[in-house]
Amino acid sequence: GAPAKVDISKLEPGAMLTAEWRGKPVYVARRSDDALQTLSTLSDQLKDPSNANKAQQPDYADNEGRSRRPEVIVLLGVCTHLGCAPKYFAEVKPEPFDPEWKGGWFCPCHGSKFDLAGRVFAGSPASDNLEVPPHSYESDNVVVIG
Ligand code: FES
Repeated sequence: GAPAKVDISKLEPGAMLTAEWRGKPVYVARRSDDALQTLSTLSDQLKDPSNANKAQQPDYADNEGRSRRPEVIVLLGVCTHLGCAPKYFAEVKPEPFDPEWKGGWFCPCHGSKFDLAGRVFAGSPASDNLEVPPHSYESDNVVVIG
């Protein structure tokens, strides 16, 4: 399939946009400095905090933030449980999750919860982190998916 080009020039910190690649939604979110700082505090709440499942991200995204550029996260919008589209919560937390949640994605189908790096929380029916699709930067403001 053809690569998808995504213009992120208007993507503010905390915001997410949805693109499409190979018939699947791709989520591109810009993380704030605060969001990035929370990532290292979550390890003991996650099923796979250190990307042990190498199939879920390319080598260049095998890092704490699961990204090429720290502030930008690119994920397939396909829940690793049964394939629903997780919803993005940058700041507003869905019930019944605790007020300590720092944001991420919540799957409405069976309640899987992911952090702002797409890493799945313990207690979720999904067992794997959201997949980071292959991607690169054509320029500072253009991400190429695929
Ligand atoms: Fe997402 Fe089941 S499909 S939790």
